[in-house]
Amino acid sequence: MKGIVLAGGSGTRLYPITKAVSKQLLPIYDKPLVYYPLSVLMLAGIREVLIISTPQDIGGFEKLLGDGSDLGMELSYAVQEHPDGLAEAFVIGRDFIGDDNVALVLGDNMFHGQDLTATLVSARRKVEQKGGAVVFGYPVADARAFGVVEFDEAGHVIGIEEKPEAPKSNFAVPGLYFYDNRVCDIAAAVEPSARGEKEITAVNSAYLETGDLRVELMGRGMAWLDTGTPEGLLKAAEYVEAVQSRQGFYIACLEEIAYRRGFIDVAHLMALGEGLKKTAYGRYLMSIAREGGAQ
Ligand code: TTP
Repeated sequence: MKGIVLAGGSGTRLYPITKAVSKQLLPIYDKPLVYYPLSVLMLAGIREVLIISTPQDIGGFEKLLGDGSDLGMELSYAVQEHPDGLAEAFVIGRDFIGDDNVALVLGDNMFHGQDLTATLVSARRKVEQKGGAVVFGYPVADARAFGVVEFDEAGHVIGIEEKPEAPKSNFAVPGLYFYDNRVCDIAAAVEPSARGEKEITAVNSAYLETGDLRVELMGRGMAWLDTGTPEGLLKAAEYVEAVQSRQGFYIACLEEIAYRRGFIDVAHLMALGEGLKKTAYGRYLMSIAREGGAQ
């Protein structure tokens, strides 16, 4: 399965912070925001990832992450000229996806929780074995700003509405989606909505109509954090600091995930840590490498 991180957009709710800097390159405590969604694809075992951003910001992502070889990954880059909607990721990424399945994560979405890896691996397997699409439902206090899942009395999904004024449930669809290869044709055929965007909800509705959409509910033990506003950024940073300092384990440490998933070996992890040894991040990498037997 291939992966796409969609990291463009305009970030207008964060102005003036994001007038000159991409939202997804802003720090969330000790690492850039894009590390968090990229870590999600890596936890799903995905090694080939396309990063899409704006013409002015794409260079920053390339500078940060390079070709991915340091992580045992293959990273490539593409530009979205205008923020014309999430479903455009599959139009821009069509050649990259080829005849494979694909997972899309939005570059500003953060997930953390007990069963995250199992949830991701299971979603990937379902699409690989049975085809169709897997998206998630996450309980939020106010669902009006999201795609919202509608259920019938038996709990079956009967619709997804984009930014409804009167949500029919409190389950929002987070920015993480797993699709079979049909998504390329489906996205290409999506017409822009009233607000002028190729909506991901239109893609999900197309899968629902053919009976090929699974909505997996995420429990309250999972954290799905908002980073779209100044308060969201601050709270997300505080969350990461609180968990990391309490546990001693880092959230979304790409090098650690690459090592634990077998993308890189222990000597390589140690070398990456040594290159950053002036920082707590680098010393953390070195401590993981030593636990793994590196000198
Ligand atoms: P949004 O939160 O919808 O928009 P935004 O990030 O541009 O911010 P604002 O509302 O403050 O103007 O976008 C969700 C994510 O998807 C975010 O990571 C940006 C990205 N995105 C794209 O890359 N291309 C797009 O066409 C759109 C609509 C969003």
